[in-house]
Amino acid sequence: MSTESTAGSTPGTAAPATIRLRHLQQAKAQGRPFSMLTAYDQFAAKAFEAAGIEVLLVGDSVGTTVLGYDSTTSTTHQDMLTFTGAVARSVTRPLVVADLAFGTYEGGPADALRHGVELVRAGASAVKLEGGAEVAPQVRVLVQAGIPVFGHLGFTPQSVNSLSGHRVQGRDRAAAQKMQEDALALQAAGAAAIVLELVPAAVAASVTAALAVPTIGIGAGPDCDGQVLVWQDMAGLSGFHGKFVKTFADLRPQLEQAAQQYRDEVSERTYPGPEHSFE
Ligand code: KIV
Repeated sequence: MSTESTAGSTPGTAAPATIRLRHLQQAKAQGRPFSMLTAYDQFAAKAFEAAGIEVLLVGDSVGTTVLGYDSTTSTTHQDMLTFTGAVARSVTRPLVVADLAFGTYEGGPADALRHGVELVRAGASAVKLEGGAEVAPQVRVLVQAGIPVFGHLGFTPQSVNSLSGHRVQGRDRAAAQKMQEDALALQAAGAAAIVLELVPAAVAASVTAALAVPTIGIGAGPDCDGQVLVWQDMAGLSGFHGKFVKTFADLRPQLEQAAQQYRDEVSERTYPGPEHSFE
């Protein structure tokens, strides 16, 4: 990855050894989009670090992508601690952001602080929570404790039940206006960045322009300051082909083919061969 496209590096200067919030802020100021991918395990995390991905999100999507839950509402705080630790122990350069699980912060600032501290102890450099002005007190207490917070607006998966499924948010003028007000409230409370999920591109562009802190889009068009995808979606492993997902690799058929070949060779006794066997 060239230094020109690396968050935090001024063109021609060395890329930072560790991505900090200020590097994301600089990237926004200089109009250089940065990348975030989800990661939940050491090998994916190391591959994304080697690729120069600036931010790794240990998303509560670990529940649906790895643990087989139907919804992120089933992902527990213990799940988040386990997978945050796995990712944080595996990389040194990307900023590691961990989701506060459903039910760990809605009760108020004290709850948010307790769970946020545990995520930081597990290795997170920042935490993410969903919601607008109503979670500003939680953002404030976390930031006061020295824990950077990413907000999350638009489609917020932990509210899938009240939002009646996965739907684009902010289509009408009032909803777009409310999203902007929520974004400003999160920023005023100290949020370091805001994820915008399933938001019309024009609305995301206008929220991005109104904020001093970076926005990170997923299904929110090209004008956000950064982009995020769930890695199993962009790598063709999950089989999810939503409109906003580009399949940058097609791992599922490759994995199937490798497993099939392994099975064939085992059944034909061509694997293991002498080169795989001990004297
Ligand atoms: O948990 C997650 O993967 C997320 C992304 C969809 C932004 O929150």
